[in-house]
Amino acid sequence: MLKSALEIKQLYKTYASNKNNSEKAALNGIDLRVPAGKIFGLLGPNGAGKSTLINILAGLVLKTEGTVTIWGFDQDKDPRQSRAAIGVMPQELNLDPFFTPRAALDVQAGLYGIPKNERHSEEILKLVGLSDKADAYARTLSGGMRRRLLLAKALVHRPQILVLDEPTAGVDLELRQMLWENMSKLNKEHGTTIILTTHYLEEAEKMCEELAILDHGQIIVRNSTKDLLAQLDRKSLIIKTSTNSPEFSQHALVDSNILNDGRLVLSYSSSRISAGDVLELLRQASISIEDVKTVQADLEDVFLKMTSSKSS
Ligand SMILES: Nc1ncnc2c1ncn2[C@@H]1O[C@H](COP(=O)(O)OP(=O)(O)OP(=O)(O)O)[C@@H](O)[C@H]1O
Ligand SMILES: [Mg+2]
Repeated sequence: MLKSALEIKQLYKTYASNKNNSEKAALNGIDLRVPAGKIFGLLGPNGAGKSTLINILAGLVLKTEGTVTIWGFDQDKDPRQSRAAIGVMPQELNLDPFFTPRAALDVQAGLYGIPKNERHSEEILKLVGLSDKADAYARTLSGGMRRRLLLAKALVHRPQILVLDEPTAGVDLELRQMLWENMSKLNKEHGTTIILTTHYLEEAEKMCEELAILDHGQIIVRNSTKDLLAQLDRKSLIIKTSTNSPEFSQHALVDSNILNDGRLVLSYSSSRISAGDVLELLRQASISIEDVKTVQADLEDVFLKMTSSKSS
């Protein structure tokens, strides 16, 4: 078995009540193990508890109960070692507006006790695409640039585990791709374990080998992305034919159905028969096609199916 990057046991968090809010149970007994070397995705609807979990890892929020082991170090028993192993990019922007990116990285390196000659600010700024903004005040950076500066800060002490809370939220398409490339690079070349939350299911599908879906403070799904998607290999072709009532004889691998508007729906399991073969069956039945639309289940379907029944 691979070494665990992260091991969480029976983790609970209840936020205390204050004058505006009643007590809130944000995490209700989380058990989670993330093997070292993976890119791991944490998904879930708004308020599911993702940031609470991440902020506990970062030491920004105090847990109510449970154990958190980071890179083999118990967060309570070995706070220094466990903190050194992890770098967290929070969801909330917490930058000093009067620091430049270069200065912000210097301060962060100082906090981790990294001597001046062992710092690698330039390399990190380059990695997040902020080299040309190295000496600009944080308050003059755009929202996407500030998020990248948060990422840069998380990288300063070269942590084995990098935790990113919505790293690409509000970041434009080109930069999102750059961040994806850089995350992959850190993972492949440095072996960094990456744990990220995202609302972009496409991002989770593309980047994450394994996933957990969190809902109401509990983990409701934990699986490899591949297996999750394999459970959903049902695809459909919706076909407009030139005849009104196409005669499609039953086939063992294809279910057929006719919609009210006369279009033919052919559903099949993509691991057992290809779209090309389904179309070939149509040709053999002398059904001519005017238009074809494909419908495919994706991570969004798993997500909606798993979380919708319980939404509040
Ligand atoms: N400081 C706090 N005090 C009280 N309640 C809080 C606090 N922070 C979060 N909560 C509550 O805890 C629950 C989980 O919030 P959390 O921020 O962890 O969700 P999330 O999964 O990160 O959501 P999002 O996708 O919107 O970022 C929510 O009901 C939220 O209102
Ligand atoms: Mg959050």
